[in-house]
Amino acid sequence: MSKLIDKFGREINYLRLSVTEHCNYRCFYCRDDEHKPNCKRKDILSYEDIEKIVQLFAQLGITKVRLTGGEPLLRRGISKIAKLVSRIDGIDDVPLSTNAHLLEKFAKKLYQNGINRVNISIDSLIPKRFEEITHGGDLIQVTKGIDAAIQTGMAPIKINVVTMRGVNDDEIESMIDFVVSKGIDIRFIETMPIGLSGIKALTQHISEKNIFAKINKHLNNQLTPIASNKTAGPAHNFKIKDTNSTVGIISAVSNYFCQTCNRVRLSTKGDLILCLGQEDSISLKDAVRSNLTDEEIKCMILNAINKKPEKHEFNSVIDNISNRQMVEIGG
Ligand code: GTP
Ligand code: 5AD
Ligand code: SF4
Repeated sequence: MSKLIDKFGREINYLRLSVTEHCNYRCFYCRDDEHKPNCKRKDILSYEDIEKIVQLFAQLGITKVRLTGGEPLLRRGISKIAKLVSRIDGIDDVPLSTNAHLLEKFAKKLYQNGINRVNISIDSLIPKRFEEITHGGDLIQVTKGIDAAIQTGMAPIKINVVTMRGVNDDEIESMIDFVVSKGIDIRFIETMPIGLSGIKALTQHISEKNIFAKINKHLNNQLTPIASNKTAGPAHNFKIKDTNSTVGIISAVSNYFCQTCNRVRLSTKGDLILCLGQEDSISLKDAVRSNLTDEEIKCMILNAINKKPEKHEFNSVIDNISNRQMVEIGG
Protein backbone atom coordinates (compact mmCIF):
# COMPACT_ATOMS: atom_id res chain seq x y z
CA MET A 1 0.00 0.00 0.00
CA SER A 2 1.42 3.39 -0.88
CA LYS A 3 2.04 6.09 1.74
CA LEU A 4 1.50 9.81 1.52
CA ILE A 5 4.50 11.51 3.13
CA ASP A 6 4.92 15.28 3.25
CA LYS A 7 8.21 17.13 3.04
CA PHE A 8 8.61 17.10 6.84
CA GLY A 9 8.36 13.30 6.88
CA ARG A 10 4.82 13.20 8.27
CA GLU A 11 2.57 10.42 7.02
CA ILE A 12 -0.77 11.86 5.89
CA ASN A 13 -3.41 9.16 6.31
CA TYR A 14 -6.44 11.18 7.48
CA LEU A 15 -8.83 13.21 5.32
CA ARG A 16 -11.44 15.47 6.96
CA LEU A 17 -14.24 15.80 4.44
CA SER A 18 -16.70 18.66 4.93
CA VAL A 19 -20.03 17.76 3.32
CA THR A 20 -21.94 20.99 4.00
CA GLU A 21 -21.30 24.54 5.19
CA HIS A 22 -24.76 24.71 6.75
CA CYS A 23 -25.30 24.30 10.46
CA ASN A 24 -28.49 24.26 12.49
CA TYR A 25 -26.55 25.72 15.46
CA ARG A 26 -24.48 28.87 15.73
CA CYS A 27 -21.88 28.25 18.43
CA PHE A 28 -20.47 31.70 19.06
CA TYR A 29 -16.79 30.63 18.80
CA CYS A 30 -17.34 28.84 15.48
CA ARG A 31 -19.69 30.83 13.33
CA ASP A 32 -19.92 34.63 12.95
CA ASP A 33 -23.37 36.20 13.35
CA GLU A 34 -23.52 37.24 9.72
CA HIS A 35 -22.24 33.96 8.30
CA LYS A 36 -24.48 32.55 5.60
CA PRO A 37 -23.32 29.63 3.48
CA ASN A 38 -23.10 30.68 -0.12
CA CYS A 39 -22.91 27.43 -2.04
CA LYS A 40 -24.78 26.83 -5.26
CA ARG A 41 -25.54 23.19 -5.93
CA LYS A 42 -23.05 23.00 -8.80
CA ASP A 43 -20.29 24.32 -6.52
CA ILE A 44 -20.69 21.50 -4.03
CA LEU A 45 -18.93 18.18 -4.48
CA SER A 46 -21.44 15.66 -5.78
CA TYR A 47 -21.56 12.00 -4.70
CA GLU A 48 -19.55 11.11 -7.79
CA ASP A 49 -16.95 13.83 -7.10
CA ILE A 50 -16.59 12.67 -3.49
CA GLU A 51 -16.26 9.03 -4.52
CA LYS A 52 -13.63 9.81 -7.13
CA ILE A 53 -11.56 12.09 -4.88
CA VAL A 54 -11.62 9.70 -1.92
CA GLN A 55 -10.69 6.78 -4.19
CA LEU A 56 -7.64 8.71 -5.40
CA PHE A 57 -6.67 9.67 -1.84
CA ALA A 58 -7.07 6.04 -0.75
CA GLN A 59 -4.76 4.92 -3.55
CA LEU A 60 -2.21 7.40 -2.24
CA GLY A 61 -2.41 6.18 1.38
CA ILE A 62 -5.39 7.78 3.14
CA THR A 63 -7.10 5.21 5.40
CA LYS A 64 -9.37 7.41 7.55
CA VAL A 65 -12.06 9.79 6.26
CA ARG A 66 -13.97 11.88 8.80
CA LEU A 67 -17.27 13.41 7.67
CA THR A 68 -17.63 16.95 9.02
CA GLY A 69 -19.58 20.12 8.20
CA GLY A 70 -20.95 22.62 9.20
CA GLU A 71 -23.31 20.00 10.50
CA PRO A 72 -22.89 16.90 8.31
CA LEU A 73 -26.33 15.49 9.10
CA LEU A 74 -27.88 18.44 7.24
CA ARG A 75 -26.41 17.22 3.96
CA ARG A 76 -29.06 15.47 1.91
CA GLY A 77 -27.89 11.91 1.25
CA ILE A 78 -25.43 11.81 4.18
CA SER A 79 -26.10 8.09 4.68
CA LYS A 80 -25.38 7.48 1.02
CA ILE A 81 -22.10 9.43 1.31
CA ALA A 82 -21.19 7.34 4.38
CA LYS A 83 -21.81 4.17 2.42
CA LEU A 84 -19.87 5.12 -0.66
CA VAL A 85 -16.88 6.39 1.33
CA SER A 86 -16.73 3.42 3.70
CA ARG A 87 -16.81 0.97 0.77
CA ILE A 88 -13.75 2.44 -0.89
CA ASP A 89 -10.79 0.09 -0.92
CA GLY A 90 -8.23 1.04 1.72
CA ILE A 91 -10.57 3.18 3.88
CA ASP A 92 -10.95 1.47 7.25
CA ASP A 93 -12.16 4.26 9.57
CA VAL A 94 -15.10 6.56 8.72
CA PRO A 95 -16.00 8.66 11.76
CA LEU A 96 -18.39 11.61 11.90
CA SER A 97 -18.19 14.91 13.84
CA THR A 98 -21.67 16.19 14.67
CA ASN A 99 -23.63 18.40 17.05
CA ALA A 100 -25.98 15.40 17.42
CA HIS A 101 -29.17 17.44 17.01
CA LEU A 102 -30.33 15.04 14.28
CA LEU A 103 -28.40 11.99 15.42
CA GLU A 104 -31.35 10.18 17.00
CA LYS A 105 -32.89 9.96 13.55
CA PHE A 106 -29.72 9.00 11.67
CA ALA A 107 -27.57 6.91 14.05
CA LYS A 108 -28.77 3.44 13.08
CA LYS A 109 -28.65 3.99 9.34
CA LEU A 110 -25.24 5.66 9.55
CA TYR A 111 -23.83 2.75 11.53
CA GLN A 112 -25.25 0.29 9.00
CA ASN A 113 -23.66 2.38 6.26
CA GLY A 114 -20.16 2.30 7.72
CA ILE A 115 -19.90 5.15 10.25
CA ASN A 116 -18.07 3.22 12.95
CA ARG A 117 -17.76 6.07 15.48
CA VAL A 118 -18.87 9.64 16.22
CA ASN A 119 -17.46 12.72 17.96
CA ILE A 120 -20.17 14.92 19.42
CA SER A 121 -19.84 18.59 20.37
CA ILE A 122 -21.58 19.55 23.58
CA ASP A 123 -20.35 22.47 25.63
CA SER A 124 -22.82 22.53 28.51
CA LEU A 125 -25.18 20.22 30.37
CA ILE A 126 -27.28 23.15 31.58
CA PRO A 127 -30.15 23.50 29.07
CA LYS A 128 -30.37 27.31 29.18
CA ARG A 129 -26.60 27.72 28.85
CA PHE A 130 -26.45 25.16 26.05
CA GLU A 131 -29.15 27.10 24.23
CA GLU A 132 -27.20 30.33 24.64
CA ILE A 133 -23.85 28.95 23.46
CA THR A 134 -25.41 27.32 20.39
CA HIS A 135 -28.02 30.03 19.74
CA GLY A 136 -31.06 27.83 20.02
CA GLY A 137 -29.67 24.31 20.50
CA ASP A 138 -31.79 21.70 22.24
CA LEU A 139 -29.89 19.75 24.89
CA ILE A 140 -32.59 17.07 25.24
CA GLN A 141 -32.44 16.34 21.52
CA VAL A 142 -28.64 16.11 21.66
CA THR A 143 -28.74 13.74 24.64
CA LYS A 144 -31.17 11.54 22.73
CA GLY A 145 -28.70 11.57 19.83
CA ILE A 146 -25.88 10.46 22.12
CA ASP A 147 -28.00 7.61 23.50
CA ALA A 148 -29.01 6.54 19.99
CA ALA A 149 -25.33 6.40 18.96
CA ILE A 150 -24.44 4.34 22.06
CA GLN A 151 -27.25 1.91 21.28
CA THR A 152 -25.96 1.21 17.78
CA GLY A 153 -22.62 -0.07 19.13
CA MET A 154 -20.53 2.70 17.57
CA ALA A 155 -17.23 3.02 19.46
CA PRO A 156 -15.45 4.96 20.69
CA ILE A 157 -17.95 7.80 21.13
CA LYS A 158 -16.16 11.03 22.08
CA ILE A 159 -17.70 14.18 23.50
CA ASN A 160 -15.94 17.42 22.45
CA VAL A 161 -16.18 20.35 24.85
CA VAL A 162 -14.76 23.68 23.78
CA THR A 163 -13.75 24.91 27.23
CA MET A 164 -14.07 28.63 27.94
CA ARG A 165 -13.38 30.74 30.99
CA GLY A 166 -16.56 32.15 32.53
CA VAL A 167 -18.69 30.26 30.00
CA ASN A 168 -18.49 26.56 30.92
CA ASP A 169 -15.28 26.00 32.89
CA ASP A 170 -17.40 25.31 35.98
CA GLU A 171 -18.80 22.22 34.23
CA ILE A 172 -15.59 20.26 33.70
CA GLU A 173 -16.41 18.03 36.67
CA SER A 174 -20.08 17.43 35.77
CA MET A 175 -19.16 16.75 32.15
CA ILE A 176 -16.71 14.07 33.28
CA ASP A 177 -19.35 12.49 35.52
CA PHE A 178 -21.78 12.52 32.58
CA VAL A 179 -19.47 10.62 30.22
CA VAL A 180 -18.47 8.16 32.93
CA SER A 181 -22.16 7.40 33.54
CA LYS A 182 -22.58 6.71 29.82
CA GLY A 183 -19.30 4.77 29.39
CA ILE A 184 -18.04 7.11 26.64
CA ASP A 185 -15.02 9.43 26.22
CA ILE A 186 -14.51 13.18 26.55
CA ARG A 187 -12.01 15.75 25.24
CA PHE A 188 -11.75 19.32 26.45
CA ILE A 189 -10.67 21.65 23.63
CA GLU A 190 -8.85 24.97 23.89
CA THR A 191 -10.49 27.69 21.79
CA MET A 192 -8.63 28.28 18.54
CA PRO A 193 -8.45 31.64 16.71
CA ILE A 194 -10.11 30.53 13.49
CA GLY A 195 -12.34 33.17 11.88
CA LEU A 196 -13.54 36.31 13.59
CA SER A 197 -15.70 34.33 16.03
CA GLY A 198 -12.76 32.11 17.04
CA ILE A 199 -10.53 35.15 17.47
CA LYS A 200 -13.10 36.87 19.69
CA ALA A 201 -13.44 33.70 21.78
CA LEU A 202 -9.74 33.88 22.63
CA THR A 203 -10.67 36.29 25.43
CA GLN A 204 -12.24 33.24 27.13
CA HIS A 205 -9.30 30.98 26.35
CA ILE A 206 -8.13 28.57 29.06
CA SER A 207 -4.80 26.83 28.71
CA GLU A 208 -4.30 23.07 28.77
CA LYS A 209 -2.49 23.46 32.09
CA ASN A 210 -5.50 25.05 33.78
CA ILE A 211 -7.97 22.62 32.24
CA PHE A 212 -5.80 19.72 33.37
CA ALA A 213 -5.54 21.08 36.92
CA LYS A 214 -9.34 20.98 37.22
CA ILE A 215 -9.59 17.49 35.75
CA ASN A 216 -6.85 16.22 38.02
CA LYS A 217 -8.42 17.70 41.11
CA HIS A 218 -11.74 16.03 40.29
CA LEU A 219 -10.19 12.68 39.42
CA ASN A 220 -7.52 12.63 42.07
CA ASN A 221 -5.05 9.77 41.32
CA GLN A 222 -7.46 8.12 38.91
CA LEU A 223 -5.70 9.07 35.66
CA THR A 224 -3.34 6.92 33.62
CA PRO A 225 -1.82 8.50 30.49
CA ILE A 226 -2.63 6.68 27.26
CA ALA A 227 0.04 6.41 24.61
CA SER A 228 -1.13 7.98 21.34
CA ASN A 229 -2.91 5.52 19.05
CA LYS A 230 -4.69 5.57 15.73
CA THR A 231 -7.88 7.16 17.08
CA ALA A 232 -6.23 9.51 19.60
CA GLY A 233 -5.80 12.44 17.21
CA PRO A 234 -4.16 15.56 18.62
CA ALA A 235 -5.51 14.92 22.13
CA HIS A 236 -3.51 14.07 25.26
CA ASN A 237 -5.64 11.25 26.67
CA PHE A 238 -5.95 9.56 30.06
CA LYS A 239 -7.84 6.45 31.15
CA ILE A 240 -10.12 7.07 34.13
CA LYS A 241 -9.54 4.30 36.67
CA ASP A 242 -12.37 1.77 37.18
CA THR A 243 -14.47 3.26 34.34
CA ASN A 244 -14.90 2.66 30.61
CA SER A 245 -14.10 6.30 29.89
CA THR A 246 -11.11 8.36 28.86
CA VAL A 247 -10.54 12.08 29.26
CA GLY A 248 -8.39 14.14 26.91
CA ILE A 249 -7.29 17.68 26.17
CA ILE A 250 -6.83 19.15 22.70
CA SER A 251 -4.54 22.13 23.03
CA ALA A 252 -3.65 23.54 19.65
CA VAL A 253 -2.71 26.90 21.15
CA SER A 254 -0.66 25.91 24.24
CA ASN A 255 0.93 22.99 22.46
CA TYR A 256 2.09 22.52 18.94
CA PHE A 257 0.94 19.07 17.88
CA CYS A 258 1.85 19.97 14.33
CA GLN A 259 4.95 17.71 14.35
CA THR A 260 2.65 14.69 14.36
CA CYS A 261 -0.05 16.12 12.08
CA ASN A 262 -1.45 13.37 9.84
CA ARG A 263 -4.37 15.15 8.17
CA VAL A 264 -5.62 17.37 5.38
CA ARG A 265 -9.09 18.80 4.80
CA LEU A 266 -11.42 18.88 1.83
CA SER A 267 -14.03 21.64 1.84
CA THR A 268 -17.63 21.27 0.68
CA LYS A 269 -16.62 23.04 -2.54
CA GLY A 270 -13.70 20.70 -3.16
CA ASP A 271 -10.79 22.83 -1.94
CA LEU A 272 -7.97 20.85 -0.42
CA ILE A 273 -6.92 22.70 2.74
CA LEU A 274 -3.49 21.72 3.95
CA CYS A 275 -3.58 23.14 7.48
CA LEU A 276 -6.34 24.44 9.76
CA GLY A 277 -4.53 27.63 10.69
CA GLN A 278 -3.50 28.76 7.24
CA GLU A 279 -5.18 30.14 4.14
CA ASP A 280 -3.73 28.11 1.24
CA SER A 281 -5.90 25.68 -0.71
CA ILE A 282 -5.93 23.80 -4.01
CA SER A 283 -9.19 23.14 -5.90
CA LEU A 284 -9.76 19.47 -6.65
CA LYS A 285 -13.35 19.90 -7.84
CA ASP A 286 -12.40 21.24 -11.24
CA ALA A 287 -9.76 18.55 -11.57
CA VAL A 288 -12.17 15.65 -11.07
CA ARG A 289 -14.70 17.24 -13.42
CA SER A 290 -12.11 17.72 -16.16
CA ASN A 291 -10.43 15.38 -18.61
CA LEU A 292 -7.41 14.88 -16.38
CA THR A 293 -6.41 11.26 -15.87
CA ASP A 294 -6.35 9.69 -12.40
CA GLU A 295 -2.56 9.76 -12.49
CA GLU A 296 -2.57 13.49 -13.30
CA ILE A 297 -4.95 14.26 -10.42
CA LYS A 298 -2.90 12.13 -8.03
CA CYS A 299 0.12 14.13 -9.14
CA MET A 300 -1.76 17.35 -8.26
CA ILE A 301 -2.54 15.94 -4.81
CA LEU A 302 1.10 14.95 -4.26
CA ASN A 303 2.26 18.44 -5.25
CA ALA A 304 -0.29 19.96 -2.86
CA ILE A 305 0.81 17.70 0.01
CA ASN A 306 4.34 18.91 -0.58
CA LYS A 307 3.10 22.42 0.23
CA LYS A 308 1.67 21.40 3.62
CA PRO A 309 3.22 23.84 6.10
CA GLU A 310 5.33 22.71 9.01
CA LYS A 311 2.94 24.25 11.55
CA HIS A 312 -0.14 26.42 11.89
CA GLU A 313 0.09 30.18 11.73
CA PHE A 314 -2.51 31.10 14.33
CA ASN A 315 -0.70 34.31 15.28
CA SER A 316 -0.51 35.71 11.77
CA VAL A 317 -4.12 34.63 11.19
CA ILE A 318 -5.12 36.91 14.08
CA ASP A 319 -3.53 39.82 12.21
CA ASN A 320 -5.46 38.98 9.06
CA ILE A 321 -9.11 38.56 9.91
CA SER A 322 -10.42 37.92 6.39
CA ASN A 323 -9.98 34.18 6.80
CA ARG A 324 -12.25 31.16 6.73
CA GLN A 325 -14.57 30.37 9.58
CA MET A 326 -14.46 27.13 11.51
CA VAL A 327 -18.01 26.28 10.39
CA GLU A 328 -16.72 26.21 6.79
CA ILE A 329 -13.73 23.99 7.57
CA GLY A 330 -15.42 21.51 9.87
CA GLY A 331 -12.96 21.80 12.76
P1 GTP B 1 -10.35 11.63 16.26
O1 GTP B 1 -10.29 11.00 14.91
O2 GTP B 1 -11.39 10.97 17.11
O3 GTP B 1 -9.03 11.82 16.91
O4 GTP B 1 -10.98 13.09 16.02
P2 GTP B 1 -10.36 14.49 15.82
O5 GTP B 1 -9.97 15.06 17.13
O6 GTP B 1 -9.34 14.43 14.75
O7 GTP B 1 -11.65 15.27 15.23
P3 GTP B 1 -12.78 16.20 15.84
O8 GTP B 1 -13.63 16.56 14.68
O9 GTP B 1 -13.44 15.58 17.00
O10 GTP B 1 -11.98 17.48 16.31
C1 GTP B 1 -11.75 17.81 17.66
C2 GTP B 1 -11.06 19.14 17.77
O11 GTP B 1 -9.73 19.03 17.33
C3 GTP B 1 -11.71 20.24 16.96
O12 GTP B 1 -11.74 21.44 17.71
C4 GTP B 1 -10.80 20.38 15.79
O13 GTP B 1 -10.84 21.66 15.27
C5 GTP B 1 -9.45 20.06 16.42
N1 GTP B 1 -8.53 19.59 15.41
C6 GTP B 1 -8.66 18.48 14.66
N2 GTP B 1 -7.61 18.38 13.81
C7 GTP B 1 -6.82 19.45 14.05
C8 GTP B 1 -5.60 19.93 13.48
O14 GTP B 1 -5.03 19.34 12.58
N3 GTP B 1 -5.08 21.08 13.96
C9 GTP B 1 -5.70 21.76 14.94
N4 GTP B 1 -5.12 22.90 15.36
N5 GTP B 1 -6.84 21.35 15.50
C10 GTP B 1 -7.40 20.22 15.06
N1 5AD C 1 -11.83 26.50 18.69
C1 5AD C 1 -11.80 25.19 19.05
N2 5AD C 1 -12.68 24.26 18.59
C2 5AD C 1 -13.65 24.68 17.78
N3 5AD C 1 -14.65 24.01 17.19
C3 5AD C 1 -15.36 24.88 16.44
N4 5AD C 1 -14.82 26.12 16.53
C4 5AD C 1 -13.76 26.03 17.38
C5 5AD C 1 -12.79 26.95 17.87
N5 5AD C 1 -12.80 28.27 17.52
C6 5AD C 1 -14.89 22.56 17.39
C7 5AD C 1 -16.33 22.17 17.63
C8 5AD C 1 -16.31 20.69 17.30
C9 5AD C 1 -15.13 20.53 16.39
C10 5AD C 1 -15.42 19.89 15.10
O1 5AD C 1 -14.56 21.82 16.24
O2 5AD C 1 -16.78 22.37 18.92
O3 5AD C 1 -16.13 19.90 18.45
FE1 SF4 D 1 -22.32 24.20 14.17
FE2 SF4 D 1 -20.44 22.63 15.25
FE3 SF4 D 1 -19.85 25.13 14.58
FE4 SF4 D 1 -21.49 24.69 16.62
S1 SF4 D 1 -19.30 24.06 16.51
S2 SF4 D 1 -21.82 26.20 14.95
S3 SF4 D 1 -22.56 22.89 16.00
S4 SF4 D 1 -20.38 23.50 13.17
